[in-house]
Amino acid sequence: MSEAAQNNPAFTPRVFSGIQPSGGLTLGNYLGAMKRFLDMQGSGIETIYCVVDMHAITVWQDPEALRKQTRELTAGYLAAGLDPTKSILFNQSQVPEHAQLAWIFNCVARLGWMNRMTQFKDKAGKNAEKASLGLYAYPALMAADILLYHATQVPVGEDQKQHVELTRDIAAKFNHDYGTEFFPMTEPVIEGAATRVMSLRDGSKKMSKSDPSDASRINMTDDADAIAKKIRKAKTDPEPLPSEPAGLAERPEARNLVNIYAALSEQSVDAVMADVGGKAFSEFKPMLADLAVAKLAPISTEMARYMEDPAEIDRILADGASRARKIAAPILKKTYEIVGMVGA
Ligand code: TYM
Repeated sequence: MSEAAQNNPAFTPRVFSGIQPSGGLTLGNYLGAMKRFLDMQGSGIETIYCVVDMHAITVWQDPEALRKQTRELTAGYLAAGLDPTKSILFNQSQVPEHAQLAWIFNCVARLGWMNRMTQFKDKAGKNAEKASLGLYAYPALMAADILLYHATQVPVGEDQKQHVELTRDIAAKFNHDYGTEFFPMTEPVIEGAATRVMSLRDGSKKMSKSDPSDASRINMTDDADAIAKKIRKAKTDPEPLPSEPAGLAERPEARNLVNIYAALSEQSVDAVMADVGGKAFSEFKPMLADLAVAKLAPISTEMARYMEDPAEIDRILADGASRARKIAAPILKKTYEIVGMVGA
């Protein structure tokens, strides 16, 4: 039995996760999250995936760009293999219960907890006084996303672990304060070789859509030439690859490229090392570039095809939102009742 099932015997297993439409989709999002969402799609557990547009506006988004990015991210999910008849796919703002539950959680979460969120500190930087209130409250909205569906498992990359732990803290405090067992203890699912894909220019920094250098990341919309060029130019050290995974410990750039290779080829790092150990980067980089192009170029072509029919994308999101609401509305109603709202 999975850990999630053991901790939540009263809850039907359910998977929820989300990605922000705040810029293009990167290889980090794909390997750390989206590809793993798809692996869970056929597992017999209900899967719900969200384009979190309300999270995106916690930092400024041009309205036209937000609309385009929302559709593009949806196209990315579909192109990567999400089947909207098997999973529920929708954008967050079409299910108003997310914002409603988030307000309740704003009243459950403590300032001290929010002050510990490392992502807020990173994103707000030195100018925290100028950050939006939404950016600060962002993890409470994320907890609402998850708990609105009583989700038991949340596949995410390493950088979201702290937010899923906060979700558990919010669920536990709500349950304790109101003397109920209404919300489950959600488990983060952080698995595989690519839970933290690093920048191609600096092995100590996460690959991110907000990095000013486009060469630091592979975008899911990059064509074959761009992908190959970025891998060729990726920062490395002068030594050949070690023959044991332990030899990667002090070599972040080398480790990152091996992890990407393992995730793209769906092999363990050990298996990859057995294959490529001892090779020079001049030999390994073209192998990685070929693999990345073979796996990613068809997705980018499919994405472009979906983007030619935005009305179909909007239809899929609206249909997903109405299915999501059928699950969310009774859970919100019950939450209101527990809290003491008249008329719920
Ligand atoms: P976001 O949009 O920043 O990223 C989406 C997912 O991609 C993962 N990810 C990475 N994984 C590995 N290496 C990287 N370099 C990398 N960059 C991003 C993230 O860990 C994430 O899984 N707050 C979330 C979105 C969200 C959410 C939710 C997630 C809102 N509500 C509910 C799960 C459940 C975020 O900003 O992800």
